[in-house]
Amino acid sequence: MADQRVENEMKELFSGFSKLDRKDRLHRLVKMGALTAKDVEFLNQGSPLSTDLAEKFIENVIGYYQMPLGVVANMVIDGRAYAIPMSVEETSIVAAASKTAKWIRERGTLTTEVVGNTVIGQIQIAKVKNWDLLESVFEFRKKEWIDLVNSDVAKGLVARGGGVQSLSLRQLDRPDGELMGVLHVYVDACDAMGANVVNQICEFLKPEIEVATGEEVTMCILSNLVDSKVTKAKLVIRDVDPEMGEKIAEGSLFAQLDPYRATTNNKGVLNGIDPILLATGNDWRAVEAGVHAYAARDGQYRSITRWTWNGTELVGEFEAPICVGIVGGVTRLHPTAKMALRMLGVESANHLSRICAAVGLVQNLGALKALTSVGIIEGHMKLHISNLTMGAGATEAETPILQKRLEEILRLTRRISLNNAIDVLKEMRQSNVHNLASHK
Ligand code: MEV
Repeated sequence: MADQRVENEMKELFSGFSKLDRKDRLHRLVKMGALTAKDVEFLNQGSPLSTDLAEKFIENVIGYYQMPLGVVANMVIDGRAYAIPMSVEETSIVAAASKTAKWIRERGTLTTEVVGNTVIGQIQIAKVKNWDLLESVFEFRKKEWIDLVNSDVAKGLVARGGGVQSLSLRQLDRPDGELMGVLHVYVDACDAMGANVVNQICEFLKPEIEVATGEEVTMCILSNLVDSKVTKAKLVIRDVDPEMGEKIAEGSLFAQLDPYRATTNNKGVLNGIDPILLATGNDWRAVEAGVHAYAARDGQYRSITRWTWNGTELVGEFEAPICVGIVGGVTRLHPTAKMALRMLGVESANHLSRICAAVGLVQNLGALKALTSVGIIEGHMKLHISNLTMGAGATEAETPILQKRLEEILRLTRRISLNNAIDVLKEMRQSNVHNLASHK
């Protein structure tokens, strides 16, 4: 439950938020300090950014691909109120997160933490010539290598409180019976996601390692499986209907035991995370890869969330690496990403990572609640109807009538498809022609 000050703030900002028109929504966000007047001006342009800017980001640019940007309402994380920016194409994600967040705001507590502080770089020696020598040189030189990196290529990081913290050597058995050596470089990348700096550090170390060990380094690259820095979120909800609590726990157990269900469960969690990554200019592919690998860390792909019901409280936990940055990449270059980071008021990369974990857990709860009660169709498809209406090619005048008819079909049959929309629209047009003809 949010404390009184946060609750008042939330009420002022979000009551009736989804029913407001866009102008009033923006007005509320400005009033609460989540957006500035300049941000509103920028958002109101609604048109693509300059293609010159796009040319700076990628190659062979031909234009922009635009995605909607929405705001998750009601989210209270670690006692603090947030307006969460989400960029996503799927209907119902923002609505489901906002609705579930309201429930939590009233009856729950959502807390987060990041455990560990380093990301990992890998230096591969494909075929080790002399393992014993490699191992002993590594043990003898590792401290010296750390100091060298920290006084050179990682100097900037050290000045900000980060840098290389440790090195380790791993041995992998090759299929041809020989040994592969992998050096892990553990780097505190501070507020960067770490890809660039970690790759630079590993490449800096390559000649040092080759000269000292007589081995040949094959490649250097960061690892997206960051099990050395894991983000956790925990949600405790009180006054839950016991039947609902039990069913949500059963739904969660399903995802713990079965990789087919775990995959969909985790997709639903990532529904809450990826749109924030996109809005803030973060590398969502890196996070996705890391999350899925972490989900399979014991050899079977499992859920990254877990829900338990103890008879009085429903407790949800999220645990996975969410390696993000608030400096580097396009986070400070893309105007929308800059604005999204400002909206969140993030103070560090870890702070952003904790927000992502919290929203992912909330999104998961929303999905499980729907799946174990009314089913997913109700909430999901109702909103999807407006897409179907558009997909069928309805005009502005036809849209409300078609939507109404599709809602009726959904209510009666509990299913709806693009074919329904096309058929109903055809019928509507035919009966219009017929009516016009009979009035002549
Ligand atoms: C759909 O985008 C996400 C869900 O399938 C997630 C889940 O099944 O938990 C509803």
